[in-house]
Amino acid sequence: MSEYVFGNPEIVEEEVDILIIGGGMAACGAAFEIMKWVDAAKQQGTDIKVKLVDKAALDRSGAVAQGLSAINTYMGENDPADYVRYVRGDLMGIVREDLVYDVGRHVDDSVHNFEKWGLPIWKQPGDEGKPLKEGGKPVRSGRWQIMINGESYKWIVAEAAKKALGTENIQERVFIVRLENDKNDPNRVAGAAGFSVRENKVYVYKFKCCLLVCGGAVNVFRPRSVGEGMGRAWYPVWNAGSTYAMAAEAGAEMTLMENRFVPARFKDGYGPVGAWFLLFKAKAINAFGEDYQAKNYDDLANYGYDAYAQGYKMGTCLRNHLMMKEMKEGRGPIFMDTPTAMAELAKNMTPKEIKHLEAEAWEDFLDMTIGQCGVWAGENIEPDKEMSELMPTEPYLLGSHAGCAGLWVSGPEDLPGTPDHYHWGYNRMTTVKGLFTAGDGVGASGHKFSSGSHAEGRIAAKAMVKFVLDNKDWKPELARSVDEIIEEIYRPVKNFLEHKDYTTAIDVNPHYITPRMFQFRLQKIMDEYVGGVSTWYQTNAKMMEVAERKLEMLREDSLKMRAKDLHELLRAWENYHRLIAAYAHMKHIKFREESRYPGYYYRMDFQRIDDENWKCFVNSTFDRHTGEWKLKKVKYVQLIKPTDEEPEGIHRPGSEV
Ligand code: FAD
Ligand code: ADX
Repeated sequence: MSEYVFGNPEIVEEEVDILIIGGGMAACGAAFEIMKWVDAAKQQGTDIKVKLVDKAALDRSGAVAQGLSAINTYMGENDPADYVRYVRGDLMGIVREDLVYDVGRHVDDSVHNFEKWGLPIWKQPGDEGKPLKEGGKPVRSGRWQIMINGESYKWIVAEAAKKALGTENIQERVFIVRLENDKNDPNRVAGAAGFSVRENKVYVYKFKCCLLVCGGAVNVFRPRSVGEGMGRAWYPVWNAGSTYAMAAEAGAEMTLMENRFVPARFKDGYGPVGAWFLLFKAKAINAFGEDYQAKNYDDLANYGYDAYAQGYKMGTCLRNHLMMKEMKEGRGPIFMDTPTAMAELAKNMTPKEIKHLEAEAWEDFLDMTIGQCGVWAGENIEPDKEMSELMPTEPYLLGSHAGCAGLWVSGPEDLPGTPDHYHWGYNRMTTVKGLFTAGDGVGASGHKFSSGSHAEGRIAAKAMVKFVLDNKDWKPELARSVDEIIEEIYRPVKNFLEHKDYTTAIDVNPHYITPRMFQFRLQKIMDEYVGGVSTWYQTNAKMMEVAERKLEMLREDSLKMRAKDLHELLRAWENYHRLIAAYAHMKHIKFREESRYPGYYYRMDFQRIDDENWKCFVNSTFDRHTGEWKLKKVKYVQLIKPTDEEPEGIHRPGSEV
C-alpha cells in the first residue's frame, strides 16, 4: 500500500503584498496591468511584491483554454451606455449599471492589446492589416461581438501576463482551498492556503490583499452527458466554484446567486451558437420546421415575461424559454437550420468563396469547441446538407457570460448618480477588506466575456495597488495556525490512510466517501430539487426544503471525503467548493419568490416576473462556523435611462484604465 502514503506534506510559507488567485482572463489582465502601478509605487519608494497562483498552467487554463472564435465584448463605434442597456435587457432588468458601464468604457483597450500581442482579428475587406486601434473595421458577428482566429487566444494573453509579471512570480499547479481571515479583524483577509496538485506540498500565503478570480462553477448539476462522456460539459470542467465558495467562507456578500446560465448549444458537442445565429443568420426551428420564436412570442405575456422582450432583442433566457416550450410540449427536437443559412449566404458567392464559407463553419468549432467537430465527423453531418440539433444544457454558475451570479463589489467612484450602497471603497473590492474579484467573480454584471473579464482584472489591479499603498504599515496575521490549516487541507488524506484497510475494496468503506460519489450526490440533489434538466429547470419552495436538508447532510459528510492520491485531493476540494456554491444558489432561488429568469429556471409556485416586489438584488452572506445563511433584498438603482439619449453627466472618458 506504500503508493498511497503521501501524508505529512512539505510546507511552503510565503508573504507577498498582493496575491492573484487564478490564471484566467481576469488574472492575466491583472498581471499585465499591475506592474505599471507597482513600478510607479517603487519610484516613490514603496516595493510591492505580487504573486500569481493558478491550479493549472497559465497557457491553457480557464474558460478560454480551448481558444475562442469571437470576442464577445468590443465597443468600437458603440456607446458604453448602450452596452449597459443591452446587458440590462439581457439579464432581465437587474444589473449593477456602474460596473457594467465601467467595463464598457475600458474594454476596448484590452482588445487593442490582444491584437498588438498577435491575436488575428477579422477585418472588413479593404481594412485587412489595419489594426483596430488605427480604425481598422472588424468583422462583427453581432453589435457587440467581433470575429477572431482564436485557437491560441489564451496563449497570447498568458504570454503578455507572464512577461509583465515575470515567471518567477507565477506559481502554477497550486489549488487554493481557503482564504484565511485576519487574526485581529474577522472581516479582513490576510492569507490563502492550498496544495500542489503535482507534489506533496502545502502552500500558505500571507498578503495585504488578493484578487480572487477562479472563474465560475460547472458540474454542480447532473450533466446531460453520461458514462465515459461525463467530463464533457459546455463550461470548463476545472472551474469548480472556488471563487464563490472561498469568498463566501471568508464572509463576503454575494449577489444574484439565484442567477445561472443555461446555454442553448449544439447537442452533445456543446458547439456555440452565436456565430450561427448572428454571423451566418441561421434560424432555429422545431421538428415541424416552424420558427418557434415567432410562434411562441405572444406566450411571453402570460407571466409578464414580455416586459423584458420589448424594446430589446429578446434576452438569452427568454429565447431558451421559447425553445423549451416546444420541447416540453412534444415538438422537439429543435434544429439549427444550417443548410438554409449556408445556401442563402452562398447565393451571391463564387465556388471559392463557398469553400471558404464551409471552412469558416468548421473553424468556428475548431477554434473553440473541437468536440463539436468530433460529433459532426462522427455522425457524418455536413452542415451545408444536414441540420444539427440544439439543446439547452445543464445549468452553470458564472458572472461574465450570459449570467450574473457572483460577489457584491464596490464600483467606480466617478459615475454620477451612483448610490452609496454601490460604492464603499476600492473598485472591485468585496465587502471583505482586502478581498477583490473580477470576471466571473463579480456579480450583477454579466456579458463581460473574455475581453471584459481581462479589462476588469486590470481595473481591480490598479485598485489593489492603491489599497496596498494605503495599508503600507499593516502586517497580515492569520486567524489560524499553519498546523490547523494543514490538518484541514489534508483531512481527506488522513481519512483515507486511517481507514483504507478496513475493507478489501478501497472505494467501498463506511468511514469515507470518495470525491466521485460525493459529486454524484450533489449533482442528483441539485438536478432533482433545484431545477436541473430532469425537471425541465422547475422547482418550488417545498422541493428546496428537501434540497436544503440533503445539502446540509452532504455538508456534514464533506468532512468524510477521502483522497487516495493528489488527484483525489484536488477532486475532494473542488467538490467542497461546488457544494458551497450550490448551497448559495439554492438559498437564493428559495428566497426570490418569482421567476425572474424564465428559460434558466422556474419557481413553479411563483411563475410570474414580479417587478413590484422583486426588481431588486438578492444578497447573501454565509457564516462558515455556524452554517447560517443570511439573505436580504438590496435596492436596484437605474443609472442609465432606458432611452437612447445620453444621461446627463455620463461621458466616455477614453479607454485607458
Ligand atoms: P477563467 O478565464 O475561467 O479563469 C479561471 C482561472 O482560475 C483558471 O486559470 C483556473 O485554472 C483558475 N482556478 C480555478 N479554481 C482555482 C483554485 N481553486 N485555485 C487556483 N486557481 C484556480 N468570451 C468571449 O469573449 N468570446 C467567446 O466566444 C466566448 N466563448 C466562451 C465559450 C465557453 C465554453 C465559455 C465557458 C466561455 C466563453 N467566453 C467567451 C467567456 C470567457 O471565457 C469568460 O468570460 C472568461 O474566461 C472569464 O474570465 P475569468 O478570469 O473570470 O475566468
Ligand atoms: S460562446 O461564448 O459560447 O461563443 P454564444 O455562441 O452563445 O457563446 O454567444 C456568443 C455571443 O452571441 C454572445 O454575446 C451571445 O449573447 C450572442 N448570441 C448568441 N445567440 C444569439 C441570438 N440568437 N441572438 C442574439 N445574440 C445571440
